Amino acid sequence: MAEPILPGPPEITVRAPAKINLTLRVGPARRDGFHPLATVYQAVSLYEEVTATPAEAGVFDLEVRGEGADQLPTDDRNLALRAARLLAEDAALDGQVGVSLVINKQIPVAAGLAGGSADAAAALLACAEVWGLDLAPQDLQPLAARLGSDVPFALIGGTAVGSGRGESVVPALARGRYHWALAFGRRGLSTPAVYARYDELGPTPPSPFEVSTELMNAVRSGDPELLGGQLINDLQAPAIDLMPELGTLLQAGRDLGAIGAVVSGSGPTCAFLAGSESAAVNLTVGLSSSGLCRSTRYVTGPVPGARRT
Ligand code: C5P
Repeated sequence: MAEPILPGPPEITVRAPAKINLTLRVGPARRDGFHPLATVYQAVSLYEEVTATPAEAGVFDLEVRGEGADQLPTDDRNLALRAARLLAEDAALDGQVGVSLVINKQIPVAAGLAGGSADAAAALLACAEVWGLDLAPQDLQPLAARLGSDVPFALIGGTAVGSGRGESVVPALARGRYHWALAFGRRGLSTPAVYARYDELGPTPPSPFEVSTELMNAVRSGDPELLGGQLINDLQAPAIDLMPELGTLLQAGRDLGAIGAVVSGSGPTCAFLAGSESAAVNLTVGLSSSGLCRSTRYVTGPVPGARRT
């Protein structure tokens, strides 16, 4: 293997979190096909890990391991590889650098948890370090936005208000640590298909089109009971329309004591809020034995965005 062009550490591992949307308000499709969003993201303790090793100039390769690895391409359709190429191009290092990426996945594929976006965010940061580029996570935001609507949030993490098509993110004043049970679907849902179904169902976006004051107050309060009553997702109806068992799953979680239940992003993962760690663990166990989902996981939020391990 050739020496890296720029001085940098031999191998860098970055981990980036999954997200859920505490609120996801969706407006009618824009001229570019994307939908305007008013959302609040929360990063939760379920992570992708991306390891970058310098490779010969012009070589960009990728291996994917872990959860759902067999469902993902390892060529240029993969967002992590696209992130690496975009960074090289943007830094005018095209043809001078290369990288071998290994993704260790924990976030299910096509789950509404932004796993692919987490891969891209982690790849941007890992490549920047491995190529010795002097870039902070905020310097990578414009590139992140070009890669996908949820990638900028995966870089910052925490709790943040998102607008535009989701790519404009501003950290939110948030208090507390929330305990969630996530329930994963037996199959994935395609994000474009859920947005298309949303259009077909005839959306009624909120007016004014913004995140509600009640939700922001709940996030500031740190009180899970308040937050539980404010979870709302305009993509929930189309997701349930495409996968009716999600309605049954949400109700099962409420019956098991969840203080809030919502489809995450475009689904099919459902997020259930509990008042304490033990209540959330009990929820994951109850939902897991309900037979209504593939598996469950206890997570907490907020957690930081993409970081070196
Ligand atoms: O930005 P990203 O590549 O993650 O979006 C995937 C797809 O989801 C888009 O091609 C589009 O169909 C849909 N989408 C949308 N409006 C958004 C975000 C995503 O319609 N705000």
